[in-house]
Amino acid sequence: MGFMETIKVTKAQTSKLHSVDFKNLGFGKVFTDHMLIADYKDGHWQTPEIIPYGPICFDPSMATLHYGQSIFEGVKAFRMQDGRSAIFRPIENFKRFNRSAYRMEMPDVTEEIFIEGMRKLLQIEDQWIPHELEHALYIRPFMFGISERLGVMPSATYKFIIILSPVGPYYSAPMRIQVEEKYVRAVEGGIGRAKTAGNYAASLHPFAVANKNGFDQVLWTDAHEHKYVQECGTINIFFLVDGRLITPSLEQGTILEGVTRDSVIKVAREMGVTVEERHISILELIEAHKAGVFTEAFGSGTAATISKVQEIKYKEHSLQFEPLQFKLADTIKAKLTAIRDGLEPDTHGWMLPVF
Ligand code: COI
Repeated sequence: MGFMETIKVTKAQTSKLHSVDFKNLGFGKVFTDHMLIADYKDGHWQTPEIIPYGPICFDPSMATLHYGQSIFEGVKAFRMQDGRSAIFRPIENFKRFNRSAYRMEMPDVTEEIFIEGMRKLLQIEDQWIPHELEHALYIRPFMFGISERLGVMPSATYKFIIILSPVGPYYSAPMRIQVEEKYVRAVEGGIGRAKTAGNYAASLHPFAVANKNGFDQVLWTDAHEHKYVQECGTINIFFLVDGRLITPSLEQGTILEGVTRDSVIKVAREMGVTVEERHISILELIEAHKAGVFTEAFGSGTAATISKVQEIKYKEHSLQFEPLQFKLADTIKAKLTAIRDGLEPDTHGWMLPVF
């Protein structure tokens, strides 16, 4: 018996599928009928189960509520043109999940639970993978500590859960972003590289301030001088300057190692574009914009895919762009979409079939 067959399945009595308006999904508002759930106790993972989607009950002393041992991933399953379904690069998310787990002193999840569990859940929910253009079934694996005690120490017990949400585009229009000069997201040696809940919690107040000023996002800068750009929080960031695609490097450990970021870099290089991963100062960007050689800015992420930027605001400088004229962002997006839709050969082996 293979691992998938060991997963116990309890089916929901009714399905919500036919009550969902797939044309107006938004992001992360609708959830499918089932979820996968696995417990970690006595030093190892128990066999996961698939059960009807719904609330779960916890003790008020649960570790995560107090000390934030919580990590997650964002993955997408796509409906291909020939009707088959496939998951985009889930192995990369699996590896990143365990890197986050290491940093947060949580146990590794096995590849069987993460990947085979995900495939089994998707096989049950296949009909939820949208057919609409730019839509996908968003997959949210997450893990959190559930020990019941208030001592500050790693939880001894954990839950790993996968939930699924059919989604449309995350940003419906090109973004306006404000360079952040007061708050910081990450510093060397911190948790910026980990996909952990606290990074997102810490971003909410700066986002709210930027929103009040009319911006969609903040562009994080380094913690020491607020001079070098990092990422936007829901996306990694790319700039096209003098025909070169530049993006902040990973080596400081202060930005998320985006799977879409890596895909953009690989696809761009294959197209013959020079890609530089390096320190990028905001002043360099301002100068390049003044000189007329800074022609495109866009973000990359699982949820956001490729999202164009129409304005970057820094002090009195407002760097304006013409997203309708962006050729590189459009070409990269089209290429990734074609791979996901099965219209271009998957030469990298990025698409993992659901069945
Ligand atoms: C993703 O792109 O999957 C993310 O996790 C970003 C955000 C929705 C939290």
